Amino acid sequence: MGKALFITGTGTDIGKTYVTGLIVKKLRDAGLNGGYYKAALSGAEPDGEGHLCPGDAQFVKDMAGLPEPAEKLVSYIYKEAVSPHLAAQWNERPVEMSRIQADFRQAREKYAYLTMEGSGGIICPLRWDAEKHLILDDMVKELQLPVLIIADAGLGTINSAVLTIEHLRHRQIPVKGVIFNNYHAGDRMETDNARMIEEITGVPVIAKVSKGDRELAIDAEELAALYED
Ligand SMILES: Nc1ncnc2c1ncn2[C@@H]1O[C@H](COP(=O)(O)OP(=O)(O)O)[C@@H](O)[C@H]1O
Ligand SMILES: [Mg+2]
Repeated sequence: MGKALFITGTGTDIGKTYVTGLIVKKLRDAGLNGGYYKAALSGAEPDGEGHLCPGDAQFVKDMAGLPEPAEKLVSYIYKEAVSPHLAAQWNERPVEMSRIQADFRQAREKYAYLTMEGSGGIICPLRWDAEKHLILDDMVKELQLPVLIIADAGLGTINSAVLTIEHLRHRQIPVKGVIFNNYHAGDRMETDNARMIEEITGVPVIAKVSKGDRELAIDAEELAALYED
């Protein structure tokens, strides 16, 4: 049974998938068996043959060189680019925690370091119907995962990163660190943003990713140490 780490973001389109690709690549380049899993993906593009392509999984597979087909790395794939709870309602295909538990377990058996990407930000409803209410943070808690937060480096990030950290702490979910995306080396405000998040919360900004980076500037061992049993 491998170790695992959950990736959330301060919002949607913040770069979770991009940075996850760099993380899994870093581990695999260092000879570690890094893998990827995502519970629910919405906004999947049809491939012309009636199949939905799970873009996030395909991106990470391509960047990190994962051996499995992208479809195997995601439990629920929806076409509509809306929150999973709404796409699930429209498709009458609700997310089942038991299925996620089983797929997650299987992925952990295959990979020594499993990186699980969330959907949207930490308050992303996965299911909201008469039978069950499930939000992303409930799932992270059930799977007992520590979390790494991807945040934009720019203006507004102090607020969104600190709120995300405060919420995770309120739910008693361990927070391992923050990675900045779209960082501009030498930018004084962005450098201060990192310092302020660290000083307000005590959570370290462990790496900074700039546009187009193909490698994560962090030690593979330091990265691997964030994963938990
Ligand atoms: N550092 C980066 N360099 C280049 N492109 C990026 C970077 N970060 C994000 N992107 C691009 O921005 C878009 C949104 O990022 P993505 O990783 O898909 O966000 P999320 O997974 O949080 O929704 C994607 O097209 C992605 O390839
Ligand atoms: Mg993504």
